[in-house]
Amino acid sequence: MSDTSNINENSYNLTPILYDIRGFFILTFAYRNTLSSQVRFFAENLKGHHLECAIGTGTFTEICMKHARKKQPHQAFSLVGVDYSKALMGGAKRKLKGAELAIEDLRNMSYEDETFDTANLPNGYHTIADIDKAMYEIVRVLKTGGQLYMNVLLYPGTGLMNKISTKVNDYGQSIGILNRPYSREEILESLPKYGLRIDDERTIQNCIFIKTTKL
Ligand SMILES: C[S@@+](CC[C@H](N)C(=O)[O-])C[C@H]1O[C@@H](n2cnc3c(N)ncnc32)[C@H](O)[C@@H]1O
Repeated sequence: MSDTSNINENSYNLTPILYDIRGFFILTFAYRNTLSSQVRFFAENLKGHHLECAIGTGTFTEICMKHARKKQPHQAFSLVGVDYSKALMGGAKRKLKGAELAIEDLRNMSYEDETFDTANLPNGYHTIADIDKAMYEIVRVLKTGGQLYMNVLLYPGTGLMNKISTKVNDYGQSIGILNRPYSREEILESLPKYGLRIDDERTIQNCIFIKTTKL
């Protein structure tokens, strides 16, 4: 699969509820992840002044916030959520009343350098065209020593389930909601160039989950 150029903020012009249903389908058949494994991973990094990148409809973040408040009640956080899709942000605004939400393109954000203590990029890396720009921007607005948690869709392996994953990925690329999957090696090799140290990485089915720190 090659990079596609049909990705833009209008790729997501769908009502938030339909978007969430489609997202659950993609999570199950392309990523082959469970919602709970993703929530446990990303909720852990909700601390301090937190940037939630590519927040979409806010449904996933809302679940992570509830999980964090229950499991880590002493770990305070204030959340800023950004996305470039106005259609999806409408859903996030209705759900996440206490959060600061903004329409921002991750490749060119309006925040000062070193603004955030932590950042998450859930299910977003592989959907972003020109990921290099977005990663340099996310690292720019993160404080030195701040942690960025992210996951990335990997090329499916072999077997029947992965044939289905490949079809779902092809569909995602055709409608502009998937840029492309990556290999584990290219992701791990690329992160140091943005100034990130890899603290932990693990692969669950077709997704790699990575904890990093800004050096
Ligand atoms: C698969 S969704 C993930 C949404 C949410 N994080 C979740 O896990 O359900 C990918 C999101 O990335 C956003 N996105 C893609 N490219 C972007 C960019 N350059 N700037 C801001 N948001 C972007 C899309 O609008 C979409 O909401």
